[in-house]
Amino acid sequence: MINVAILGFGVVGGGVADLLTNNSDCVSRLGGDEINIKYLLDLRDFPDSPFADRVVHDFDIILSDPEVSCVIEVMGGSHPAYEYTVAALKAGKSVITSNKEVVAAFGDEFLSLAAEHGACYRFEAAVGGGIPVISPMISFIGQNRLREVRGILNGTTNYILTKMFSYGASFEESLKDAQDRGYAERNPDADVLGTDACRKITILTALATGKLLPTDSIHTEGITAIRKEDVIFAEKIGMKIKLLGRCILTDNGIQAVVAPFMIHNDSPLSTVSGVYNAVEVIGDPIGNVMFYGQGAGAGATASAVVGDLMQIMRSGRSYAEPCWTKTDDGLLDFACFEARNYVALDGVTLSEVNAALGEIQLICDEGELAFITGVLSESEISEAIEKLTTAGATIKSRIRLV
Ligand code: HSE
Repeated sequence: MINVAILGFGVVGGGVADLLTNNSDCVSRLGGDEINIKYLLDLRDFPDSPFADRVVHDFDIILSDPEVSCVIEVMGGSHPAYEYTVAALKAGKSVITSNKEVVAAFGDEFLSLAAEHGACYRFEAAVGGGIPVISPMISFIGQNRLREVRGILNGTTNYILTKMFSYGASFEESLKDAQDRGYAERNPDADVLGTDACRKITILTALATGKLLPTDSIHTEGITAIRKEDVIFAEKIGMKIKLLGRCILTDNGIQAVVAPFMIHNDSPLSTVSGVYNAVEVIGDPIGNVMFYGQGAGAGATASAVVGDLMQIMRSGRSYAEPCWTKTDDGLLDFACFEARNYVALDGVTLSEVNAALGEIQLICDEGELAFITGVLSESEISEAIEKLTTAGATIKSRIRLV
C-alpha cells in the first residue's frame, strides 16, 4: 500500500482523487500496489466530499507522517508550493506536481534535492496537461540531435485565437467567451500575455538542453495586440496565427521565444484548435514528432499526475538525469532571431516600404498596407520600421512567420 498526500483540493486535486478512486483497478495493476489517499491539504473544509475525513490544514502533519511516501503538489503558485516541495524532498518523500510555475523557477533545485535524498521529483502534468510529452522526451527522444521543440502550450489563448479565426470575433469578444466558458481566469494575464507558455517552453528547453533558463531571459509576447484585420490577412495567404513557444537549437546557441506566429495551413500545428495543446519535436534522425491532446482540465491533468505516480511505483526514478543547471549561458540575443514578418502599416507608400525593407509580398494596399517581408533579423526589421515610423508611418501589426 502506497500512502499519498494531495496538496490542494481544487480542480486538479479533485481530479486526482477521483481518478485514483474510480480507476483504482487500472492504477494498482500497472503501479503494482494499491494507493491510499491519506491526506488532502487545503485551507477549506469539504464536509460534503467523500474525502472529508482526510482533509487537513497543517502541512506538518503530512511531513511528519513516515507512512506518506509521496506528495502530490497541485496547489499552483510559487509559495508555499516551493517550501512544501523542498521540505518533502528533504524528508525523502517523492513529489509530483502539475505546477509549471515552480518547475520553471526551481526545477533544478528540486531535481538535485530529489537525487540527494533518494526521492523522485516528477512533473509530467506541468506541460501540455494530459499529453505525455515530458517522459517521452527523456525516455525516447533525448538520444536525437534536437533542432527545435515548439508547441501550442496554452489552451486559453488557443481557444481565443480559434474563435477569432472561426467567427471573425475580436480579441476582447473571444476572451469574454473564454471566461464565460471557464477556460480563462477572471484575471487572464498569465495566459494572454504569454507568461504561462513561457514557463512551459522553459521546462521543454531544460529537457532539450539541461539548461533551465531564467524565464525573464526568454522573449515573451502575448496575443492581446492581434486584430481582426490580422486574422483576415492571414486567411488570405493560407495561414493561421498561433501563440507558439519555440526553443530552436543551432550550432551557435539556443533561441527561445514565446510569441504569436503565422503558420501555414499545411503545418500540423495549424490544425490544433480550441483548448487543445500540441508539442512538436524536430530532431535527427527521428524527424518530426507531434504530441497532441488536452492541455488542461481536471481529468486530463490528473491522468498525467497519476502516470507519474505509477512511474515512481514501478521504477522509483525522477525524469532528468543528470540534473538541470540554471543558466542563460548559450541563449542567443533575441535581436539575432531571423524570420519573415507579416507587417501592417498606415500612412506609408509601397515605394517607401520597398526602400526600407526591400522586396515584399503584398497582401493588401487598400487602406493599410499589409505585406510579408523577406527573412530579416529582429534588429534589421526593428530598425527599418523605426525609420518608417519616424517618417510618418503608423505600425498596426507585426507577426513573425514560422
Ligand atoms: N491556463 C492554462 C491554459 C492551464 O490555458 O493552458 C493549463 O496549464
